[in-house]
Amino acid sequence: MSTIENIESATVGEIAASDIRKADVFRKMGIDFCCGGRKTLKEAAGQAGITEAQLREALEKTPPVGASHPQHDFSSWDLAFLADYICNVHHRYIRENAAVLENLSLKVANRHGAQHPELIHLATGIRGFLHHLLSHINKEENILFPLIRQLASKKYNGDEYMDISAPVRVMEQEHQEAGDELKQFRQLTHDYVLPADACNSYTYLFGKMKEFEDDLFQHIHLENNILFPKALQL
Ligand SMILES: [Fe+2]
Ligand SMILES: [Fe+2]
Repeated sequence: MSTIENIESATVGEIAASDIRKADVFRKMGIDFCCGGRKTLKEAAGQAGITEAQLREALEKTPPVGASHPQHDFSSWDLAFLADYICNVHHRYIRENAAVLENLSLKVANRHGAQHPELIHLATGIRGFLHHLLSHINKEENILFPLIRQLASKKYNGDEYMDISAPVRVMEQEHQEAGDELKQFRQLTHDYVLPADACNSYTYLFGKMKEFEDDLFQHIHLENNILFPKALQL
């Protein structure tokens, strides 16, 4: 991902295309960077009802790309804490971004589906994928994670036998299915390579899908490789 050399004169569209996190700032502020991308920061700030300085400050505060996964020693964490972390970081990320991705993929498919029919399959696929994923994290939060917290707590005296292997297997199976769906999206889009005529929304969609995939892989790694095996040992 390139950076904008001269942010003073760059348009909203150029800034959004150069950095997905800055595109996220525009989206949250209701600033259109797709069709209305050819405006300056000053014009965009005026339309959003804030000052240019406030908009610049929000853009400067975005963390650098790749900074979302600081290197924590997750294996040494208390299991209940790890379960909380997964809910607060990764489940929250999915809930915050699911509707954004679904709407964005529909918008791009409507606009460019005639020239790029794979976008229509992508939008349909993303819809089903997100639906399954939201139901998956609800099951973890309502069924499996409370059992893991109970097992990990000192209050659990082990009198009653608690076997979590069945729900763990179901969750692992669903992780596999989510991974397979992400693989299909990569096949459809040739690894998210943008065509020459891609507009800002198209660029944002592919950037967002790569970010989403990255977050989900880290999320599944924490569950499959740390949380579930350690909980099964309890
Ligand atoms: Fe999860
Ligand atoms: Fe999961």
